[in-house]
Amino acid sequence: MADDDHDTRARALRERLHHHAHRYYVLDAPEVPDAEYDRLFAELQALEAAHPELLTPDSPTQRVGGRVLEGFTPVRHAVAMLSIRTETDTTAAGAEAFDARVRRELALPDDAPPLAYAAELKFDGLAINLRYVYGTLVQAATRGDGETGEDVTQNIRTIGQIPLRLFADAPPAVLEVRGEVYMRRDDFERLNEAQRAQGRKTYVNPRNTAAGAVRQLDSAITAQRPLSFFAYGLGEVQGWDQPATHSATLDALAAFGLPVCTDRAVAEGAAGLVDFHRAMGAKRDELPFDIDGVVYKVDAIALQQRLGFVTREPRWAVAHKYPAQEQMTRLAGIEIQVGRTGKLTPVARLEPVFVGGTTVSNATLHNVFELRRKGVRVGDTVIVRRAGDVIPEIVGRVGVGMADGSSPRQPYVPNFRMPRQCPVCASRVLREKGGIDHRCSGGLVCGAQRKQALLHFAGRRAMDIEGLGDKLVEQLVDAGVIRTLPDLYALGIEQLAGLERMAEKSAANLVAALAKSKRTTLARFLYALGIRQVGETTAKDLARHFGGIEALMAAGVEKLLEVNDVGPIVAQSIRAFFDQPDNVEVVRQLQNAGIHWPESAGEADTTPKPLAGKTLVLTGTLPTLARDEAQALIEAAGGKVAGSVSRKTGYVVAGAEAGSKLDKARELGITVLDEDGLRALLAAAPDE
Ligand code: IVH
Repeated sequence: MADDDHDTRARALRERLHHHAHRYYVLDAPEVPDAEYDRLFAELQALEAAHPELLTPDSPTQRVGGRVLEGFTPVRHAVAMLSIRTETDTTAAGAEAFDARVRRELALPDDAPPLAYAAELKFDGLAINLRYVYGTLVQAATRGDGETGEDVTQNIRTIGQIPLRLFADAPPAVLEVRGEVYMRRDDFERLNEAQRAQGRKTYVNPRNTAAGAVRQLDSAITAQRPLSFFAYGLGEVQGWDQPATHSATLDALAAFGLPVCTDRAVAEGAAGLVDFHRAMGAKRDELPFDIDGVVYKVDAIALQQRLGFVTREPRWAVAHKYPAQEQMTRLAGIEIQVGRTGKLTPVARLEPVFVGGTTVSNATLHNVFELRRKGVRVGDTVIVRRAGDVIPEIVGRVGVGMADGSSPRQPYVPNFRMPRQCPVCASRVLREKGGIDHRCSGGLVCGAQRKQALLHFAGRRAMDIEGLGDKLVEQLVDAGVIRTLPDLYALGIEQLAGLERMAEKSAANLVAALAKSKRTTLARFLYALGIRQVGETTAKDLARHFGGIEALMAAGVEKLLEVNDVGPIVAQSIRAFFDQPDNVEVVRQLQNAGIHWPESAGEADTTPKPLAGKTLVLTGTLPTLARDEAQALIEAAGGKVAGSVSRKTGYVVAGAEAGSKLDKARELGITVLDEDGLRALLAAAPDE
C-alpha cells in the first residue's frame, strides 16, 4: 500500500501538471520548459505504476493532448490523431530499444534481415489535420484531445505553403494529410526583432508562437505570422491506393504539392536509425527550424497494421529525443556588455546548464525594457533557451513555490538599472529619445568597441585574417598596441612575439595572414568597416552599384537610395559614416597600408558577366572548391546562389554526396553540372 507521502506527492504532481498543461495548451503561455513538464509527468507515471491505487481518472497521465479552445467549432476526427511514444534516452540505446521491441512484437527470428524504417525529423510545432475532398482543401483542424479538435480552416488557409488544391488530375475522393505547422527560427527572430524595435512584448519560442497564431480567433492576425508546414502522415483516405510504404507515401504527398521535409531517410535496422539520429543531431543547429528529436516509423504499411496500437500510441512509431533546447537554471548576476557600435546589452550570468547540446553560462537579455518586462532579477530561477546558432536567451522566470523545488524570490532584490557611464571606458551612456537601446558615447575611445570592431574587421566573411581571435585582440587592445584598424597592418613579428602566450611561429603566421588579407574585394572591405546597417548583402549591393570606394564615399543620400534594397535608414547611416572625418582617415590609412581590390565601373560595368540573371544551386561537396569559394565565383560572374531548387533555377552544381536538391533538379529537368562544368561556364562569354 502506498503511504501518505506517496499520496501527497501524487496529489502535488497532479496539481502542478494540471496547472502547467493549462498554461501550455490553453493559454499558450508555459511557465516551465517542456523538459521540466516531462520530468514531473514521468515522476507521476512512475509513482502510479508502482502504486496503482494512487491512479485517479483525472490524472494528467490518463489524457493525451490538449483541450479544445472556446471560440472554435469542434471537429470530430474521422481517424483519431494519435501521439507517439517518446524515447527519452538520447543515446544510441534509444534507437536500439525501439528496433528490438518492434522485432519482438513481430516475432521475428534473431537472424531475420534488418527492418526498413522511415526516419524523419520531429518538428516542434502544432499538429494539424488537412482534409482534401476531390483535391480541394475543405477543412483544417487541430489535434485537440486526439478525438476532437478545433476548426482552424480560415487560419490555415493563410499559410502560403499549404496548397488549397492538390496537384493531381484525378485526386482522391478524401485525403486527410497530417503534419506540423511550425515557425522557422529566422522568421521567429525577425518577428521578435520587430517587436523589440517597437518596445513590444517578445514571443517565447517559435513553437508557442506558431501554436498561438494557428489558434487565433482573428485570421488577419494569423496571416501576419510567418508560418510553415511539413506533412508527415495521413488520416482518413478514400479512393486512393496508398503506396505500400510510409516513405513512398510521403513522396506521393510531395508530388501532390504538399511540403515534405527532405531531411528524411529509409534507415536499415537499428544501425541505420542510430546513424540517422547522429547525423541529424549534428545538423540540428544548422536546420532553419527547431526539432526536439527524430521520429522512426516502420516503413512497410502492412507491418504497421500488424503491429497496431497500445491505447493511444502506435507500436510502429517512436520519437527519439535530443537534449532539450530549454532548461532551468539560476540567474547568478547581470552584467553589461558593450558591443561594436557601443550598444549596451545586459547579459545574464547563469549557473552553467546543459541546454541544446552545450553548456551555457551566459545569455542575452537584449535590453533593459525587455529585462523589466520579463521581470527577472538576480537569484531567480529562469528558463534559458538555446536553439541553433541563435545566441542563448532568457525566456522568462519560473513561477515561485514550484513543485520542482525552486524557491520564492528573496526579498529586497534591487531592480536592475542601466549604468550612466560605460563600464569599460566611463564615457557617458546615452539613449536616443524614445529609443530602446543605451549606447556608450565613447566610440573608438572605448576599448570594448575597439575590440569588437577589430574582431568584426578580421572576421572570416570580412577581411578574413586568420589567427586574429578574441584572446589576441584583447591582448593587443589592452596593451595599447592597437588603437585603430590601420594599426593592425603596422604589427611586426617581433612586437607580436613579445606578447604573452605568443610564439614566434604564430606571430609569423599572423603577419602573413595580415599581408594576405590586403588583397580583398570592395564588398568585403565595406562590410569589414562595420558601418551600422551595412551587412554582408548590403555591402555586396553597394560594391556592385558603385564599383569603387570613391564613388560611394562621395554619394549623397539620393544616390545611395538608388542602390538595390537600400532604404532611408541605411542610406543615412552610410552617409553619416563617411561624413565623419575620422572614418575617412581610417579608409585612407588602410589603403595606404596596401589594402586593395579590383575596381570596376559599377552597374555600368562592361566586364563579361557570363552568369548574369542566372540562379544556381550548390549541393554536395565539390572536389576542390569550398562552398564559399564557389559562391564567390558565381557572384563575381553576375550569378546568384539560392538555397533550394525551383523551376527558376538555372543550373544545379552537384558534388559528392549531393542530396535531395539533385533529385529535385532531375525531376524538374534542370541542367546539372559538376565542378568542371561550373568552371567552363564561368569562363564562357555571356550569351547575348
Ligand atoms: S507521426 C501515429 N511524425 O509529434 C503517429 N509526428 O506525439 C502520429 N510530430 O504532436 C504522429 N514531427 O504533431 C509524426 N515526423 C513526425 C512528427 C510528428 C512532429 C508531432 C506530432 C504530435 C507529436 C506526436
